[in-house]
Amino acid sequence: MRAENIYKSFGEGKNRVNVLNGINLELRPGESLTILGASGVGKSTLLHILGTLERPSSGKIYYKEEELTAKDENKLAEFRNRTIGFVFQFHHLLPEFSALENAMMPALIQGMSREEAAAKAEVILREVGLGDRFSHKPGELSGGEQQRVAVARSLILDPPLILADEPTGNLDAKTGEGIEELLLRFNREKGIALLIVTHNERLTKKMSRCILLKEGKVAS
Ligand SMILES: Nc1ncnc2c1ncn2[C@@H]1O[C@H](COP(=O)(O)OP(=O)(O)O)[C@@H](O)[C@H]1O
Ligand SMILES: [Mg+2]
Repeated sequence: MRAENIYKSFGEGKNRVNVLNGINLELRPGESLTILGASGVGKSTLLHILGTLERPSSGKIYYKEEELTAKDENKLAEFRNRTIGFVFQFHHLLPEFSALENAMMPALIQGMSREEAAAKAEVILREVGLGDRFSHKPGELSGGEQQRVAVARSLILDPPLILADEPTGNLDAKTGEGIEELLLRFNREKGIALLIVTHNERLTKKMSRCILLKEGKVAS
């Protein structure tokens, strides 16, 4: 995935805020990249733009030479479903549904049969260490377990890329480290490219590359 000369501003006139001021960035297949930067610097904005959840004010995003910024919303939804697993700070699990059903959701949305989706969800929930929690609802799981379900959900369709926005921001240090280790394991063992936005400088040592956002640009 490649970002070329990305600018993003919000608001109009004197309320205008320029958040991203010419970002160039590449994430290669199988690579692990951390984005560091102060709160409010535009990390989430950049991740949303890379993930095609939001459009840049100007600049282009490419995936394998395909220009994503030229595609319409339907095409982008399809692209995301196929290509990107998202993990956010808050897990956004559906409270009425079990861990298994939550993990199945992207597969069901894609039109996979219930049986096939459930079988895939069982495999992936075991891989994230929740083999004994299939029928638990989010409210019956710890914060770390909830985030593991969110990781399972992000991986159910075997995306080549995971985008994680402060995935441990809401967890204590030890639980958070477990989630990071899990994401890194999928990166190492399955070659899934991994981009993590984090405050945790310790994590950056385990990742292949790190960039620092400052004043809307890549500072280092
Ligand atoms: N939808 C929006 N409308 C207006 N301003 C926004 C919007 N999203 C983000 N911003 C502003 O952009 C800046 C960067 O936000 P964000 O990307 O969330 O930062 P970070 O993730 O680094 O903490 C902030 O000043 C924020 O207020
Ligand atoms: Mg953020």
